[in-house]
Amino acid sequence: CGSMADLDSRGVRLLTLSGHVGFDSLPEQLVCRQLCQGFTFNIMCVGETGIGKSTLMNTLFNTDFDSQECSHFERCVRLRQCCYNLCECDVHLRLTIVEAQGFGDQMDKDVEPIVNYVDAQFESYLQEELKVQRCLYDYLDTRVHVCLYFITPTGHSLKSLDLVTLKRLDSKVNIIPIIAKADTLTKCELLKFKNKIKNDLGRNGVRIYQFPTDDEAVAQINVAMNAHLPFAVVGSMDEVCVNNKLVRAREYPWGVVQVDDDDHSDFGKLREMLIRVNMEDLREQTHRCHYELYRCCRLKEMGYQSSLREYKPSLSQGSECVEAMRKQLAEELCRKEREMKQMIVNRMKQKEVEVKEMERELQARLECLKRIYQEERQKVEEKRKQLEDEKIAFNQRKAACEAMMKAQAAHPPRG
Ligand code: GTP
Ligand code: MG
Repeated sequence: CGSMADLDSRGVRLLTLSGHVGFDSLPEQLVCRQLCQGFTFNIMCVGETGIGKSTLMNTLFNTDFDSQECSHFERCVRLRQCCYNLCECDVHLRLTIVEAQGFGDQMDKDVEPIVNYVDAQFESYLQEELKVQRCLYDYLDTRVHVCLYFITPTGHSLKSLDLVTLKRLDSKVNIIPIIAKADTLTKCELLKFKNKIKNDLGRNGVRIYQFPTDDEAVAQINVAMNAHLPFAVVGSMDEVCVNNKLVRAREYPWGVVQVDDDDHSDFGKLREMLIRVNMEDLREQTHRCHYELYRCCRLKEMGYQSSLREYKPSLSQGSECVEAMRKQLAEELCRKEREMKQMIVNRMKQKEVEVKEMERELQARLECLKRIYQEERQKVEEKRKQLEDEKIAFNQRKAACEAMMKAQAAHPPRG
């Protein structure tokens, strides 16, 4: 880091630094690297058909994403995934928006495709991680970072479909519940509805995403915003002139609902929390909590578990560990016994099938031989009868000849 050096009076080389030296530049290096790499953010929108999912996404990112209207007659829920590359002040964001289409139209089949989609994204990340040569740096991460759950503005309590879906998803994804089309509720109705929803979620043990409060820099705002959940939002890309200014709003015969006005809706709060303050936390929670849980379960399913040889209990844990080992051994033994029994049953069934098959084959061969024998016997019988007839005919002819010869001998022809 020195430039060409001068010498001091003692002949010692003098070096001048070409710049600042220190590891305090590490954060800067990280930022530079991350800026080069770009960011990924994946949002999943779950809510009834026509509840305003696409409109809200457009409003959030101030972009007209291509969205297709969905019919109410889909056979089952389809997850429509669209990716967009957005850029803001040299920051590149690869945004994936996944809409659950047809949700709420076929009650009994609605939840499974959504859960399967979330799991499938975890699974493909896990498979990449398990490869000998991993490419996680370039990997297109499609794990769902947040699920915006659109609650229909009924003013009543949550529907059972809402509760079932939320309960199935709450350990797999960060859920932010939002009351859609909030402009259809009065201020008083909205307040009551929010309280009912909070009670329903609490009573049914649904865990929704909480904005983190452990970082001092954002603790205050996040505490305040946690109290506002579920956000009551309004979406629109229409521009309306209000006080000589163009604003995004919904225009009605009786007035204008401004999307970005905090007095009209919580849209601003949602955008602030989702994009400006907690986007990184959502990504981190997805990786640290939800993916970790999935990974742990899958690895256990695959048979990866600490083997007994690796199991080294500390002295303080003594009896607990022995008990745990005993339990583990007993479970293992039970499992093996079950497997053996099943194997024997399967083998016996297989043998039974084989024996029956052989029996059938032998019976068929026997029948065939019997038939051939009968046919042969019949042919021989016919032949015998034919020979018998020929013999009778021959004997008759012989007798006739002999009679004729006798007659000739008695009266020989004259001259
Ligand atoms: P599908 O993808 O077809 O399921 O619909 P969606 O949930 O994406 O709804 P979309 O954004 O297409 O909006 C459906 C209708 O609701 C449109 O007519 C929107 O203008 C309207 N809409 C969207 N947001 C709001 C809102 O906040 N308030 C009101 N009143 N209407 C809205
Ligand atoms: Mg849509």
